[in-house]
Amino acid sequence: MVQPRVIGAEHIQDAYQRGRIVFEVFSDDIVTDLAFETAARLGIRLTDGPLEKPAVVKTDGAKALMRGLYRSSSRWVNPHKNSPRRQIQRFSKLALVGTGGVGANIAHLAAMQNMADEIMLIDIVPGIAAAIAMDLNHASGITRTSTRCFGSEELVQVAGADVIVVSAGIARRPGMTRADLIDVNKRVIHVTAEAIRTSAPDAIVIVVTNPLDEMTLEMLKVTQFPRERVLGMAGTLDSSRFRNSLANAAGVFPADVEAMTIGSHGDEMTPIPSLARIKGMPLERFLTEVQIEACVKDAVTGGGQVVALKKSGSATVAPAHGVVEMLDHIRGARVGPVPATVMLLGEYGVHDIVLGVPAHLGKSGLVEVEELNITATERHNLHAAAEAVRKRLE
Ligand code: 2OP
Repeated sequence: MVQPRVIGAEHIQDAYQRGRIVFEVFSDDIVTDLAFETAARLGIRLTDGPLEKPAVVKTDGAKALMRGLYRSSSRWVNPHKNSPRRQIQRFSKLALVGTGGVGANIAHLAAMQNMADEIMLIDIVPGIAAAIAMDLNHASGITRTSTRCFGSEELVQVAGADVIVVSAGIARRPGMTRADLIDVNKRVIHVTAEAIRTSAPDAIVIVVTNPLDEMTLEMLKVTQFPRERVLGMAGTLDSSRFRNSLANAAGVFPADVEAMTIGSHGDEMTPIPSLARIKGMPLERFLTEVQIEACVKDAVTGGGQVVALKKSGSATVAPAHGVVEMLDHIRGARVGPVPATVMLLGEYGVHDIVLGVPAHLGKSGLVEVEELNITATERHNLHAAAEAVRKRLE
């Protein structure tokens, strides 16, 4: 009797790491939504088990003995390097500077995923971080998370954090562009970066504060950290909006859509329609050029649309998921290139400017930038985004 199993994303990831393309599911198994989504994303087919097992090829003892002797000789080289199975890391401490809507949602999502031993919420508004931490701990009687949350008003509490997410600063109000926030939020980032430099010199920093590209550069400058450890969150959020828009236009589920945006987190955002797929097929199989253009525009303006409706601030849930997706890549729970805002050193022909690009992340932050095969127009748009950010910084 096979015990019923709960199939989670990590089981799918593990099968993917082993090179499987089919995952056997028994009738009593429970498959989580994230497992379905991960299987769709990684191209793993979930199939009803038990599968017909191929007959074990019998080898004669002499051959097996010879093979064993040969493998023990110095001449034999293992053809399959024992690539270490991707271990999903659990952070010992995740610090969130700024516990407004985005920070609070990140804390909630991270606690729900048992992502860290400790989440330290930090906010200058008296009591707010401690209140949210207490609220999250109160929920643990139901969520059964083993993550413990703490609140503080002191930036020094970033000490010992593996990853620090900075969303502190003011949000846009209707009629403002993200760039309008640059002066006031630059001061917030400056103070925060100083504290990180002195109290958490080995941390990875994920910046959320707007204007994102400029604030990520400010974080890099003040912390003096290597580019690998200062990342901006924008592309995961913008790509999610792009996928959502394409799914709506094509009448499919978001899980059927793969799409990415790179470039700037602003009007010069660069969605990549040429690499987008719906049910594994190019967009043109589902949408006209006009519809695709409309989806690009919808992604670029998505944040502003929320601000216009909300009037008192900007989006909080989707940006939080954008951060959690990056945290998942850093801890090894997700694989593959993910859009991240990093300092470019010649990739895509862009030098010394912070921009959103497809990146491989790992436990030390940025592993490498992936140079996707984008069209000349998309490359031109990316360069235009770089120039716009450079101009804004001058
Ligand atoms: C957004 O696009 C807040 O910049 C964030 O919603």
